[in-house]
Amino acid sequence: MPTALIILAAGQGTRMNSDLPKVLHPLGGVPLLAHALASGRAARPERTLIVTGHGAEAVASEIHTLEPGAEIVHQAQQLGTGHAVAQAAEALAGFAGDILILYGDTPFIRAETIARMQNARQSGHDMVVLGFNAREPGRYGRLVMTGDQLERIVEAKDATPEERAISLCNSGVMIADAKVIMPLLERLEPYNSSGEYYLTDTVALARGEGRSVGVVTCDEAETLGINTRRELARAEALFQERRRRDALDNGVTLTAPETVFFTLDTMIGRDALIEPHVVFGPGVTVESGAHVRAFSHLEGCHVSRGAVVGPYARLRPGTEIAENARIGNFVEVKNAGIGDGAKVNHLSYIGDAQVGEAANIGAGTVTCNYDGVMKHRTVIGARAFIGSDTMLVAPVRVGSEAMTASGSVITDDVPDGALAIARTRQQVKPGFARRLMQKLRTARARLDRQTGSTE
Ligand code: UD1
Ligand code: CA
Repeated sequence: MPTALIILAAGQGTRMNSDLPKVLHPLGGVPLLAHALASGRAARPERTLIVTGHGAEAVASEIHTLEPGAEIVHQAQQLGTGHAVAQAAEALAGFAGDILILYGDTPFIRAETIARMQNARQSGHDMVVLGFNAREPGRYGRLVMTGDQLERIVEAKDATPEERAISLCNSGVMIADAKVIMPLLERLEPYNSSGEYYLTDTVALARGEGRSVGVVTCDEAETLGINTRRELARAEALFQERRRRDALDNGVTLTAPETVFFTLDTMIGRDALIEPHVVFGPGVTVESGAHVRAFSHLEGCHVSRGAVVGPYARLRPGTEIAENARIGNFVEVKNAGIGDGAKVNHLSYIGDAQVGEAANIGAGTVTCNYDGVMKHRTVIGARAFIGSDTMLVAPVRVGSEAMTASGSVITDDVPDGALAIARTRQQVKPGFARRLMQKLRTARARLDRQTGSTE
């Protein structure tokens, strides 16, 4: 069954107390909205529509990077969840299939839950609502059931005391046959305590037409929506806790799990070893058997099996660490490939570079990649030996099996197998130091006599 995913993201998020639209606040290293998109992907949607309103421009520009194929629908005024979905009606005219509705501020809906809703749809329900048993039903919509049929959803504000006593609540997630739900949106009326067009009213309308409406339930934690910074902070903690547990279950060793931080797309292979206080930013893959040592920060990089990174390493976007390579303490690597078995063990910056296999980069080496306007590349050949404190002024190329003398400033290419020395030659003056000190002491004594100083 083809599916169109609609994500509601027009709300203001007033309680975030922020200039940033709510769905752009980061959770697990990516905007909240990216989590809803990830949940929605489980349904393999043929179309993805995102309803924007508050901060629409900022949200739209983020969508272009997150999901370039997504269609943006604008809701100029936030007149309710039903009104929000209705904004997608024009774009979806003639669409035959299922409509899956998610909220942009609800990040934890699992793929498996969406699959269960799709199964319930296939088993004959025209609409399926995701419900949960709330510990404190509070302001959630209540699900009014007759047997296994959902008769209607009543918002807490509009509910009678008996209805408010129902603990089965509406998560907001819904899947429905497009030809059933789309016409019902036109029939919604805002005669309720909020004066809004409630999406939830489509349930009673569908029942009135003799349609079948089912409920699938999930854990309350999955339905957690973000409305405040406190909730965002709590969601971050939950997200991290889950990712740590998943990593451990997948065979990753985390020495101190509570100190390791993940991003939504972090991928870590089995038998990788992650030491304490490691942060994974967006776009990191760590292969099976790699070792990331304490206090390292990684983003946009790939670490191959057998490689060791850290302690105190920083890998920035575009970094590719090949098998068995070593990146040591206080080493920063950006947009660079470090070849098989190559070593950059101490205090170095390697940016816009390619380091050949088994090359050895001495302590304090810097690729001087930036001339103030443009970035330039450094290429270092296989088995090259870069002496400590070499400045590689890019663009520059050091051949394979070549060497640079420590302290060199390398501005010209070094051919294969050559040694480049680019520093002033040392001069040694016998006895000079002792004579110099004697002269200085004599001068000082004369001065002290003149001023009477006893210091
Ligand atoms: C809604 C449900 C309620 C459910 C709860 C779960 C309705 C009428 N009520 O209530 O049954 O228990 O979610 O959290 O559907 N939005 C728009 N445009 C609008 C209005 C809302 O895009 O005009 C978006 C919001 O940005 C938000 C989502 O829809 O992401 C839900 O809206 P919100 O106002 O938070 O709904 P609730 O009152 O919480
Ligand atoms: Ca809400």
